[in-house]
Amino acid sequence: MPTIKEILQTMDYGPAPESTKEANAWLDQHGRRFGLFIDGAWSEAASTFATSNPADGSELAQVTQATGDDVERAVQAARRAQPGWVALGGAGRARVMYSLARLLQKHARLFAVLETLDNGKTIRETRDADLPLASRHFYHHAGWAALQSEEFADYRAVGVVGQIVPWNFPLLMLAWKVAPALAAGNTIVFKPAEFTPLSALLFAEICQQAGVPAGVVNIVTGDGAVGEAIVNHPGIDKLAFTGSTEVGRIIRKATAGTGKKLSLELGGKSPFIVFDDADLDAAVEGLVDSIWFNQGQVCCAGSRLLVQESVYDRFIAKVKLRMQNLRVGSPLDKSNDIGALVDPIQQQRIHGLVESARAEGCEVWQPACEAPTAGSWYLPTLITGASTSAAVAQAEIFGPVLVAMSFRTPSEAVQLANNTVYGLAACVWSESISLALDVAPQIKAGVVWINTANQFDAACGFGGYKESGFGREGGKEGMYEYLTPLSEDARPSAPIVAEKGRVKASEEGTPFAIDRTAKLYIGGKQARPDGAYSRAINGANGAFLADIGEGNRKDIRNAVEAAHKASGWSKATAHNRAQVLYYIAENLAIRADEFAQRIAAQTGSKDAAREVQASIERLFYWAAWCDKYDGAAHQPPMHGITVALNEPVGVIGIVCPNENPLLGFISLVAPALALGNRVVAVPSESAPLSATDLYQVLDTSDLPGGALNIVTGSADELARTLASHGDVDAVWRHDGSAEGCAEVERLSADSLKRTWVGGAKGRDWFDAKQACGRTVLQHASQVKNVWIPYGV
Ligand code: NAI
Repeated sequence: MPTIKEILQTMDYGPAPESTKEANAWLDQHGRRFGLFIDGAWSEAASTFATSNPADGSELAQVTQATGDDVERAVQAARRAQPGWVALGGAGRARVMYSLARLLQKHARLFAVLETLDNGKTIRETRDADLPLASRHFYHHAGWAALQSEEFADYRAVGVVGQIVPWNFPLLMLAWKVAPALAAGNTIVFKPAEFTPLSALLFAEICQQAGVPAGVVNIVTGDGAVGEAIVNHPGIDKLAFTGSTEVGRIIRKATAGTGKKLSLELGGKSPFIVFDDADLDAAVEGLVDSIWFNQGQVCCAGSRLLVQESVYDRFIAKVKLRMQNLRVGSPLDKSNDIGALVDPIQQQRIHGLVESARAEGCEVWQPACEAPTAGSWYLPTLITGASTSAAVAQAEIFGPVLVAMSFRTPSEAVQLANNTVYGLAACVWSESISLALDVAPQIKAGVVWINTANQFDAACGFGGYKESGFGREGGKEGMYEYLTPLSEDARPSAPIVAEKGRVKASEEGTPFAIDRTAKLYIGGKQARPDGAYSRAINGANGAFLADIGEGNRKDIRNAVEAAHKASGWSKATAHNRAQVLYYIAENLAIRADEFAQRIAAQTGSKDAAREVQASIERLFYWAAWCDKYDGAAHQPPMHGITVALNEPVGVIGIVCPNENPLLGFISLVAPALALGNRVVAVPSESAPLSATDLYQVLDTSDLPGGALNIVTGSADELARTLASHGDVDAVWRHDGSAEGCAEVERLSADSLKRTWVGGAKGRDWFDAKQACGRTVLQHASQVKNVWIPYGV
């Protein structure tokens, strides 16, 4: 008589196929041919392409390849509809969005089956993850619409937004983009991926049923050329893109200098870290969710397994055992774990990368099971023995392929985890809360899951560090992506030229007159410029005031290096940072008259004394913020919390305004320092002496060397170097140079650094609404969401 164990081993699941009847009926009802959804109506399908079922290669429907004219019509419809959508008010929009959420729930099964047919992912995932999360997103954001006038009183909708999504989560990515945009009062031109357009087309019907006014949501289908037409359309005010880092770069370059707001959610190569005290069995289950969810076609897939050496062999053995039990087969079968890849192209790409690893001598392991022969499939794969620089350890494979490595110490784990150009997500497995919470902030990623994986919720922001992009989707931070501060509209059309007062003939008698050659300030020390050149600065009355160092590429490189070495500033307590800023203010106040004279001598401003007082107040203001820009503790639908931390961006290059040489400088540098960033500042090109005069103030204010570095010279040249520098995390430029700002955005595309540029417009640096507040805090920080489940 067989034992129970033996019986269990021979048992298998019977087939449990989900019915496709309703989905096929819906496709048939449309004659399996779809036009575009523009201005609340369907266009005739003109030039079309096929969308297929990746599980068997069969054609599902013909879908329209939109033209430039179609995009034009969609943008115009969205523009016309926008004032009405705003006028509906937060409560009115909330009702429509609530209706969308309800309808998504009501038609959840149809959506899930359609998504599985079009994408190849398992019904278990579309039914249990994609659909509930998509409707949750609309519920959550219906709430933000209702609260908008209260919570975002100083903001307005951006306008018409273009949204472009990939094929891996077609409906979910639509929800992540459409819901916050609608809540904030924007209207939309949306493009689904060419492989998976069907759920967006079904969503268009849901919009009609929910009473979304014509033109508020427009859906255009087609390939990258349609995406390009949206990106380049001058009528688009904001672009939200999810997809490959390569296309993200193209979009960053294409939008440079246009003033379009941009958020990019790009690729990843996320680490899955297992410490030796982890619950290894739970970690294996987490790993399954992390790398084999959606066949690994997930931007935040835990594709790099890092296991502590002492448990490495044991853990790998458990992983192989579990892989052996993964069920690969028809995505419509409810008991299958692994479905089809989206397209044969994806299969070839994965195959190429895995074979390159094999050729390099890595061990490639796959479970002994068969994948169906028709359609695009790839078996779950484990690669061991790869070097940290191997292509499979660095490139986003976007398939069911896990690369495993070992580490010895927590610091080595952090170093390996961060050894990638990406920074989207990470998992940390340890039973020691102290260890896990020590490691999480050290990982450069927008999301860290502790003892869990691939958790998402509309209340918790999601998005990347480094080349994984910028901007957040979800949470309150995600709403700001679709809002413009009202103070932006109040900005003057050009920098404000100071009203002239009476200018002294010379500075004779001022303490600054003794040293007439200002050096650079690097690593807390005055440094001669590398090129040994200087430039003369003349005052408002034409008289020579001083020479300043002509900084060059090498000086910027030295300054960036010094800033990186000053990492202690980012780890200093907020209280400590505040003390330093207060101290700078105090020391500046002692010399207020000298600074006022210097401003007057350079610019002729009659408001010089007021500018110094405003600068001191601004330092107090940002010192006040140091320990008050707290994160949040979210309560997503799990037993645990998600802690949103406002982390510093890193090293920020700041090109300061020409006007208000002291107040403009302080207004930008102080918030960056307040939130723990390290700064390389380029002061006013025409009046840099107010910044170089600060060296002595800084020296006596306990600011650690390297936290603030100052390089004088040509704003254009220095900005160019900062924007091209691979180790600078963000560049701000606010000197009123439209072309210079465009160049910063263009050059920053290579390493996808964040930018904050003022364009040709000016800013009233005295006006707290324009120069202070949440927008500045947001530019100076990035949100990391740390998920911490608890209990058993
Ligand atoms: P992709 O980035 O080319 O496509 C994403 C979306 O952008 C699609 O809707 C596409 O039509 C559109 N698009 C393409 N070129 C465009 C352009 N020049 N301007 C505007 N829109 C454009 O991604 P693709 O080709 O589908 O996948 C290639 C690789 O990208 C994958 O193997 C994977 O490594 C990565 N990827 C990453 C994703 C993520 O979520 N991080 C999602 C999809 C792909």
